[in-house]
Amino acid sequence: MKFFNGTALRAIVLLGTTLLVSACQAAPGTPSDDAVPASSPPSAAATQALPLITVHKSPDCGCCGVWVEHVRAAGFPVRVNDTEDMLAIKQRLGIPDEMLSCHTAEVDGYVVEGHVPVADIQRLLSERPAARGLVLPGMPVGSPGMESPDGYRQSFTVGLLEENGNVRGFSQHP
Ligand code: CU
Ligand code: CU
Repeated sequence: MKFFNGTALRAIVLLGTTLLVSACQAAPGTPSDDAVPASSPPSAAATQALPLITVHKSPDCGCCGVWVEHVRAAGFPVRVNDTEDMLAIKQRLGIPDEMLSCHTAEVDGYVVEGHVPVADIQRLLSERPAARGLVLPGMPVGSPGMESPDGYRQSFTVGLLEENGNVRGFSQHP
């Protein structure tokens, strides 16, 4: 797993939106259909009532907004909490410094940090592991909300944040 330097990411969050926005602007403003991996099965859950996802994000974060559309497209109801104080929310929810990304979501008792693909959230909610939730540190190019105009994708690993703060691999995205 490749992790970002926690201090650097913390600085990014502290600096607020400036750096994140410029990072986001490298991504196209439109969500693409292929953001959902082809391997994700048509979900039976899509026809049932899905739990609310609350997304905490900076009001100026463009890639966060694209990620919101990614989870909405999968049928999740989303409540957006625009806030300038993301670091306090991340600390309250127990996101380790080295796992920080831009936005932080809450769904059905779990936290979801960063540009986690919705298929991983669906799997989390069906398997319901004893854990705090999922983390995807940094903002990997090609992850949902971080699509590159030329289709370039970084490989990335979504981590399962355990109750004790440890992180282990949850899903690998080539
Ligand atoms: Cu982002
Ligand atoms: Cu974001």
